[in-house]
Amino acid sequence: MGLVIAVDGPGGSGKGTICKSASKVFGYPYLDTGLLYRAVAARLLCSTDTILKDRAVEIAGSIRQEDLNETSLRHPKVADWASKISSIPEVRQQLFKYQADFSSNPEGAILDGRDIGTHICPNADLKFFITANIETRARRRWMELSKENSTENFEKVMADLAKRDARDKSRNISPLIKAEDALLIDTSELTIDASVNLFIKAVNKKLNDKNLTN
Ligand code: DC
Repeated sequence: MGLVIAVDGPGGSGKGTICKSASKVFGYPYLDTGLLYRAVAARLLCSTDTILKDRAVEIAGSIRQEDLNETSLRHPKVADWASKISSIPEVRQQLFKYQADFSSNPEGAILDGRDIGTHICPNADLKFFITANIETRARRRWMELSKENSTENFEKVMADLAKRDARDKSRNISPLIKAEDALLIDTSELTIDASVNLFIKAVNKKLNDKNLTN
C-alpha cells in the first residue's frame, strides 16, 4: 500500500515539477487536479464567450482522463476561466469523485491542487503546501509561456497570477489555504533539485516512520 500525498499551493510555486519528480522516484501515480478545472474551462470556451454555470456543471460531470492531455489547457485564458469556474460549488462537486477515486489507488497517489489537503484528501498520509513569492512565480510562468512562443509580457503574467491568487484564496468554497498539518516548502530561493530533495526527504521519513509502526 503506497502513500497518499496531498500537495497544495498557488500557480508557479513549482508544485507540479516537484510532484512529477516524486511520482517517478516513488512510483506513485500523479494527478494535476488543475487540469480538471482547465479541461472544463477549455470545453466551455469552445462553445460560449460567457461563463454559463449550468453548462460548466454539465461539462464537469463528463470529464475523462483523455480530456487532460490537450496542450491548449496551458493557455492563459483557459487558466483564467478555470479559476472562475472553480468557484462554482456544483462544478467542484462534479469533479470530486474523479479525484477521490484517483486517491484511493492502493499503489499510492500524489495529487496537487488548491484543496487537496483540506478537502479532497483530508486523511492523506502526508501533506505539503508549496509556495513562492509572486515575482518568482510570475517569472517561471512567463518563461514557460515564452518557450511556447507566447508574446505575453512579464507584467501582464504577474498581474494575471495575482488576480487568480486573490480569487482562489477568497472564494467561499474550498479556498486555497494551507492545511494545518501540511509541511510548508517555500521554493522562492531554491533550485528545482533542492526543492525536490526536500520533498523526497519528507516522504522517505514518512515511509520509515510507517514501517517502524507496522
Ligand atoms: O493549478 P492550475 O493553475 O492548473 O489551476 C487552474 C485553476 O483551477 C486555479 O486557478 C484554481 C482551480 N483549481 C482549484 O480550484 N482546485 C484545484 N484543486 C486545482 C485547481
